Amino acid sequence: MRLDKFLSLTGKASRSDASKAVRGGTVLVNGIPAKKADMNVDPDTDEIIFRGEVVTYRQYTYVMMHKPDGVVSATEDGREQTVLDLLPEEITRVRPALFPCGRLDKHTTGLMILTNNGQLSHRLLSPARHVDKTYEFSVKFPLSDEDVMALESGVDIGGYVTAPCKVVLDPPQPDERGRSGKITLHEGKYHQIKLMMEAQHNQITRLKRVTFGPLTLDPALAAGAWRMLTEEEIGMLEDAGK
Ligand code: URA
Repeated sequence: MRLDKFLSLTGKASRSDASKAVRGGTVLVNGIPAKKADMNVDPDTDEIIFRGEVVTYRQYTYVMMHKPDGVVSATEDGREQTVLDLLPEEITRVRPALFPCGRLDKHTTGLMILTNNGQLSHRLLSPARHVDKTYEFSVKFPLSDEDVMALESGVDIGGYVTAPCKVVLDPPQPDERGRSGKITLHEGKYHQIKLMMEAQHNQITRLKRVTFGPLTLDPALAAGAWRMLTEEEIGMLEDAGK
């Protein structure tokens, strides 16, 4: 694999940054400064140091994205823009191919993990694992304490009663109470939060996922932006899927 491709796949640098680092002599391959960014490296056997740090090759790719409004969480869609369309070809070309770890509705924004680690994704999404996800929400009408209690203890969303969850309302505004807050749940039924609010005769007007298990949406990521997960974040995700 090309050295610059390797560095970009590990998320350490874009290809152009990798080339600059090579020219600056800060990329070492087996202890020797690399001369060319397109030199061939074997990620399994070569030791690659980028700006003083050993870069390890991972079998799988993990991306954190701030999903913007209006984009669908699919790998392909004939009509709509997908979360995969927001990634450069360099990343979408990796095999096995990347896919979103769980779905967000078209108009839900926020933390989305994309990976090609099918087993870990399956474990993280398994209802038995109880991986918490927190969403910021706004609703059309104020939520009463009774609404909050009902949502927290479980509501019928069409033949299915939701598991207990946690709802924390934002401090009351002068004329509005309980129009926004945070909801944390470990389930992921289709349109779950929307349907839960509808069961309380209310309507979601904004929904943004801010945590997924141990991970929090990086505030440096604007809507539509993405970055690779750090080694630490990958470790935390693996622990959550154990
Ligand atoms: N619940 C919803 O209703 N929509 C989402 O996108 C996620 C959870």
